Amino acid sequence: MVVNNVTLEAVAVAKDQYPIESYPEIAFVGRSNVGKSSLINAMVYRKAIARTSSTPGKTRTINFYNVEDKLYFVDLPGYGYAKTSKSESAKWGKMIEGYLHKRETLKRVVLLLDIRHEPSDNDRIMYEWLRHYRKEIIIAATKADKLGKQQVQKQIAVIKKALDLPDNAIIPFSGVTKNGRDELWGVIEDSLSY
Ligand code: GTP
Ligand code: MG
Repeated sequence: MVVNNVTLEAVAVAKDQYPIESYPEIAFVGRSNVGKSSLINAMVYRKAIARTSSTPGKTRTINFYNVEDKLYFVDLPGYGYAKTSKSESAKWGKMIEGYLHKRETLKRVVLLLDIRHEPSDNDRIMYEWLRHYRKEIIIAATKADKLGKQQVQKQIAVIKKALDLPDNAIIPFSGVTKNGRDELWGVIEDSLSY
């Protein structure tokens, strides 16, 4: 997709702050610091429309990016950050689940996993939750620039095995080199056409 126009249309902590259901939505979920906001920036060819940080817990609201008046990219807070207080984690958990659960216009959920690591317990819980509720899932393995080619393949196999995924289910991605961007756009655009 050619992306010229992208705006942060809504910043929400509760349902009444979401945009009305209109364009198809692609949501990005994953543990804190995995690279959700960075991936959104790469996808819309912008450096910093979505705020990023080396400190986990940067995104604390549900942010709706209007892309070309065609779709929304929905940036969610991360889960599984150890230093977050229990009450804070629970609040974010509810917020994320509240969004994912009943949003009629939600087309795909992109689950981001750090390519260097085996999926965490929280990653597995999120993956199983998404499957249970019959969400259409895309898996992106982020920070692929941190590994060599062979290691990328090795880690893809590790993640595939851990979550029992089919072949070619994982898209290696890098917000640094932008590797994976075209492939991810391809999958997203396909999802919009039916
Ligand atoms: P929360 O908002 O806290 O949930 O985090 P997030 O998932 O949005 O992560 P964010 O995009 O803020 O990135 C976290 C850190 O990882 C930042 O320092 C990014 O620069 C870095 N990062 C993200 N993606 C990549 C990548 O593909 N490669 C490398 N090398 N670093 C990355
Ligand atoms: Mg973020």
